[in-house]
Amino acid sequence: SDAVNRVFRNGILHATTNPVVRRTVERYGMQLGAARFVAGESLDQAIQALRRLEDMGFKTNTTIFGEHVFDEATADAVADEYIRVIDRLKAEGLRTNIALKPTHLGLSVSREVGYRNIRRVVEHGAKVGTFVRMDMEDSPWVDGTLGIYRDLREAGLDNTGVVLQAYLYRSEVDLESLLPYAPNIRIVKGAYLEPPDIAYPSKADVDRAYIRLAERALTADGYTAIATHDRRIIEHIIDFAIANKIPRDRFEFQMLYGIATDLQLQLLRRGYTVLISTNHGTGWYPYLMRRLAERPANLLFFARNAVRL
Ligand code: FDA
Repeated sequence: SDAVNRVFRNGILHATTNPVVRRTVERYGMQLGAARFVAGESLDQAIQALRRLEDMGFKTNTTIFGEHVFDEATADAVADEYIRVIDRLKAEGLRTNIALKPTHLGLSVSREVGYRNIRRVVEHGAKVGTFVRMDMEDSPWVDGTLGIYRDLREAGLDNTGVVLQAYLYRSEVDLESLLPYAPNIRIVKGAYLEPPDIAYPSKADVDRAYIRLAERALTADGYTAIATHDRRIIEHIIDFAIANKIPRDRFEFQMLYGIATDLQLQLLRRGYTVLISTNHGTGWYPYLMRRLAERPANLLFFARNAVRL
């Protein structure tokens, strides 16, 4: 039920900061099944997965695992690494987009460092034709991330997009403020632990907010990425798009690597654009914990593998 899932989700997200949990999961996680959600611990491995997905007809993106960098030199190095990843993907003939976490590139050092590094990556993307989306992280970073998006657009950089999280009460206002840019917006439910004074605690409310945001974005100028594995919402959006004559090139579905793979294929076969979002690198721990928190059954999947070991 909703209440049980909420307790479960909050429990896992709380446990994520526990050092014993972290050490244990980092040691055994890959063997126990993290590989299902991780395209590769190296870029080379990820490229094989990305090529397979593109050959099947999917759009793709990739993210280097990492977040909450608090020193400038590390953040600068992450931007350099993204530029190398963009060049490598091009050299491999892949059309893979980039999705990056602003705090990985230094938003957590300062707004200025975050902007400088993200701008460097987006400018490089503009040069070679690569789209660069900023993911949306936990609520302290929302203002900074949206501010950087506006600054990039004001600077004439259009190969970039943002994310709005349906669980945040503020997202409907944020969406209205972004619409003048004809933005490329990904809509998600929201993956972090947020207090009830800023985010809907109930799943039913989040789902309703998701549909409101998606419908508003789809009927405005711009491009909408419907990022969810929720079949009910996806079918609702398809019906809405048909009823409102929203062309298929104005939106896409996005799902995470390794999740709801049957649904990914089914939408592709129905002629929709489907982007599979991948991550690579060794810092997969917080990402894995967010995926476990989303679905109690994932923990069972891990427990079963632990018994087999
Ligand atoms: P919901 O949680 O209601 O799940 C619907 C169904 O999907 C479940 O019943 C189950 O069948 C399946 N499912 C969902 N999660 C699963 C899992 N982990 N394992 C197996 N099955 C699962 N969040 C954020 O805060 N900032 C961001 O930038 C992004 N970016 C992003 C990109 C993309 C492409 C996706 C798909 C998602 C994100 N998210 C995100 C994560 C998002 O906020 C949310 O946590 C997840 O998408 C899970 O919610 P669903 O929308 O799938 O719905």
